[in-house]
Amino acid sequence: MDIQVFSDLHFEAQAEFDIPKTEAEVIVLAGDIGEGLDGVHWAIRQANQLEKPVLYVFGNHEHYQHSFPGLITEAKLLTQGTRVHVLERNRYIHGQTRFLGCTLWTDFQLFGTDNFSACKQLARGLMPDYQSIVKPNQEPLQPEDTLWLFDQSSKWLQRELDQPWPGKTVVVTHHAPTSLCNDPKHAEDMMSSAFISNLDHVIKYHQIDAWIHGHTHYNVDFHLRKTRIISHQRGYPGETVPGNPFSKNLVFVI
Ligand SMILES: [Fe+2]
Ligand SMILES: [Fe+2]
Repeated sequence: MDIQVFSDLHFEAQAEFDIPKTEAEVIVLAGDIGEGLDGVHWAIRQANQLEKPVLYVFGNHEHYQHSFPGLITEAKLLTQGTRVHVLERNRYIHGQTRFLGCTLWTDFQLFGTDNFSACKQLARGLMPDYQSIVKPNQEPLQPEDTLWLFDQSSKWLQRELDQPWPGKTVVVTHHAPTSLCNDPKHAEDMMSSAFISNLDHVIKYHQIDAWIHGHTHYNVDFHLRKTRIISHQRGYPGETVPGNPFSKNLVFVI
C-alpha cells in the first residue's frame, strides 16, 4: 500500500501547505500538526481536496493551551462524517491493512529502571508539556499522568497486536518506540526518555509491518527485525530536521 506520512508540521509556528496529489491511498499524520483543533481543520480540508482518508494521531503540541483529554473528544466529534479519523487507542481498517493509533507518551525508562525517577523529574522541569497542558481541574498535566497514559496505551496496543490479522499491520504513534529512533547527538541525553521508550520487545514478539512515529525531530527509515520504522517530520521554522530530508511528495510503499 502507498501512504504519505507527515508529522511535526508545527503549523502553530509557520504557514500551512496543501498536500500534493500523489498515488498514496492513505495519509497518516503522526502528531504535532498544530495546536488545538487547527490541525484537525487542516486535515479535513486536505482529505476533502484529495478525497482520501487521513488518519490523525495527536502529538503533545495539539494539547498546548488546552485541557487534556477533552480535545480528543472534540476532535472526534468534529471529524464525524468526514474522511479524517482521529486515532487514540483506535484502529482503522483500509483494505487488508489495519492501522493501530495512539499518542503513546513515554515510560521514562529509556535509560533503565535505575534512572527512571531522575528522568521523570528532569521531564517535569524541562518538558513544556507539564506547563502548557492542563487537566479538567486546571492543574497542570504531570509526568505521572503521561506515565499512566503510556501504560494504558502500550497495553492496548499489545492486546490489539495479539489479535490475529491476515493483512498488514501499521502502528502509528507520536512518541517513538526504540532507542534507534534517537538522533545520535541525544544518545546520552536523559531528556530523550520524554521522547522515546524501549518497545523493542513489542516489535520482536508481534508481526508489525511498519511503525510510524514523530516527536523526535529526527527522520528515520530503517528495519528493526521485520518492522519498518518510519518518521517524516518537518520541524520548526528554520530547523532542518536531520535524517532523510522532508518532502511534501514523499510516498512510502508499505
Ligand atoms: Fe514536534
Ligand atoms: Fe511532539
